[in-house]
Amino acid sequence: MTANFQSEHLDYFLDIYGQVDFLPIYGHESRLYDINNNMVIDFSAGIAVNSLGHAHPALIGALVEQANKLWHCSNIMLNQPALELAKLLVEKSCFDKVFFCNSGTEANEAALKLARRYAFKNFNKKNKIVSFKNSFHGRTLFAVSVGGQTKYSQDFAPLPSGIEHGIFNDINSAISLINDETAAVIVEPIQAEGGVIPADINFLKKLRELCDEHKAILIFDEVQTGLGRTGKLFAYEHYGVEPDIISLAKALGCGFPIGAILVKEKFANGFEIGSHGTTFGGNPLACSVALIAFKIISNPEFLTQVLNKSTVFFNIINEINNDLQIYDDIRGIGLLIGAELKDEYKNKARDLMNLGFKYGVATLTATADVTRFTPPLIINHIDINYGFERFYNAIKELKNS
Ligand SMILES: Cc1ncc(COP(=O)(O)O)c(C=O)c1O
Repeated sequence: MTANFQSEHLDYFLDIYGQVDFLPIYGHESRLYDINNNMVIDFSAGIAVNSLGHAHPALIGALVEQANKLWHCSNIMLNQPALELAKLLVEKSCFDKVFFCNSGTEANEAALKLARRYAFKNFNKKNKIVSFKNSFHGRTLFAVSVGGQTKYSQDFAPLPSGIEHGIFNDINSAISLINDETAAVIVEPIQAEGGVIPADINFLKKLRELCDEHKAILIFDEVQTGLGRTGKLFAYEHYGVEPDIISLAKALGCGFPIGAILVKEKFANGFEIGSHGTTFGGNPLACSVALIAFKIISNPEFLTQVLNKSTVFFNIINEINNDLQIYDDIRGIGLLIGAELKDEYKNKARDLMNLGFKYGVATLTATADVTRFTPPLIINHIDINYGFERFYNAIKELKNS
């Protein structure tokens, strides 16, 4: 890293990310390297994006092959990679129709707009959206308003209206809010940014029941939980609850930007020609990469190894915690894992993440009190052990500081 990288950076960029002191130049599998070949073990995977690690040869192959053929032709024309990807997504899920966009936020925006329009077309006075406190659904004005963390919306008023927030995992709260005026209910099967908090099975089942009773559309935001992250292709499979729409992004392109919603047939006519759209969504470059990524990730053997590695991760974090006593709770599903700091280390998750980088391991936070682990799903056992050796030293330094 150049000595003045941090200060130079602030000369040119809006100061919104508070970036760590590491400038990666290239990556390979679960490792990132800076210009001096300092290596960081990546337990973050670009925030649950690089599920196949860095520089996966099959993804590079797909990208280069497509780059030599056709980059973009706009959605006034069909394209072959988008069609193949859509077919596969439908085949491997409980959904019937696909819309491609470029990010998770856009996927949620599309899902919510579709739900509102479906209700507008089919019912009288039905436009409420029910979401949950502590949730995160992205950064457009609609998405921060639907999201349940006021810190992301409070300074941007006036906000879109008709949105209510219940208490996550509280069935009575859901019952009190969902009624015949509800157009859609949106929920993360695991609240990820909000602290890695899995939904209770009975909570999601009740949401399904309430949505059926009141003819509301149930949307699962699977931007972070989808595509193998939890050891199943989609997190809804863990719960035995089928939503009407899911939103996807992050690992769909494994680093190449692409998002999508998958929609049940019944609700597909919420959109008609012209009612929604995007210039770049579903472009051939993104779809050709996502197609190969999805073929690899949706293989049942691939998903099984995610669950095996999840056990290894949980075991090691628990071992470290038995020794160093830093976390109160270690939770999550598959390779989306959160570890909540004990009270004496309150607000120290970011300090610990920064120390991790100092010792050569990239982790994430989820709120100020939770360390989040979202490693590449292809991470090998050597790198798991290597990363945790480094993280152990980071925790020791935090405890001594
Ligand atoms: C559950 C969830 N929804 C939506 C988003 C927003 O996705 P994007 O940053 O691609 O717009 C995120 C991003 O972290 C997320 O975790």
